[in-house]
Amino acid sequence: MGTTQAKAADVYGRTYELDEQTLEVMVTRLEARGRHPVFIQSIGDYGEQLRLSGTESLLELGCGTGVASRRIALRPDAPGRIVALDISPHLVAAASRLAAAEGLDGRIDWRVGDAHALGLDEQFDVVLLHTLISHVADPERVLHQAVGHLTPGSGRMVVFDADVASLSIATEAEDGGAESDRLIRKGLFAQPRAVRSLPRLLRERGMQLAWSRAYAVADIGRPDYFGPLLASLPILLPKAGVMSEQEARRFVDELGVMAARDAFFGVITFHTIIAHRVA
Ligand SMILES: C[S@@+](CC[C@H](N)C(=O)[O-])C[C@H]1O[C@@H](n2cnc3c(N)ncnc32)[C@H](O)[C@@H]1O
Repeated sequence: MGTTQAKAADVYGRTYELDEQTLEVMVTRLEARGRHPVFIQSIGDYGEQLRLSGTESLLELGCGTGVASRRIALRPDAPGRIVALDISPHLVAAASRLAAAEGLDGRIDWRVGDAHALGLDEQFDVVLLHTLISHVADPERVLHQAVGHLTPGSGRMVVFDADVASLSIATEAEDGGAESDRLIRKGLFAQPRAVRSLPRLLRERGMQLAWSRAYAVADIGRPDYFGPLLASLPILLPKAGVMSEQEARRFVDELGVMAARDAFFGVITFHTIIAHRVA
């Protein structure tokens, strides 16, 4: 596994080779993020936009713990068949366990695989990339794979991701947090600007843009969205090699002190794009 996946610092792009402790930190963080109102709303919004009839097939790439596929499977108009794939066997096992605990045992076909080289012998009505594209080594190749697995003429692709270039967490450092923002981007995102290229990349692959929506997460005072992210940083940033354990701990502790004074400030935007495969 991981022959295509480059060795960028991004820990979320190296989940196939990380230790269990680090992967469990990711499970906790992904599940907490999945419960945030912006994530619940964004999945609900693209679910509505798809106007499903209950018979479609859906493939999710980079499913992690299955936050998006599990929520979609619970919709009254859920697709008939859902295949969800991730490069990490540990995260796929966690997804399967969590789905079973929600009464979705056997409902989703969980698979381990690399989105750069899918090799699936099927085409799907919907292909979903929910916060995957900013973590892959080669976004163009992943989009090519995704388009190739869509039903010609009617298949739809849904891409939801952070515009990581917009990520900003204020600190009391002299630069206001610019350097720590840069290190977080480097340590957690291989492709921080990928979402900005999507309209062009999708068009170049014969996809027609159908719908988009932007979501801003802004934690002012207390870190509601950013809290679980901050909790993961003392493990993830040293693992990415961008901060020592001591530096990461100090960084997070300082933000904790700011939060206790209602002085936290963190922002990031997310975007959904739905595009049709026209031919
Ligand atoms: C930020 S997580 C998002 C997980 C999930 N979609 C969510 O939003 O909760 C990125 C996921 O992409 C997976 N991933 C990274 N590179 C991949 C690749 N080349 N093929 C398949 N999955 C990949 C990681 O294992 C991780 O689960």
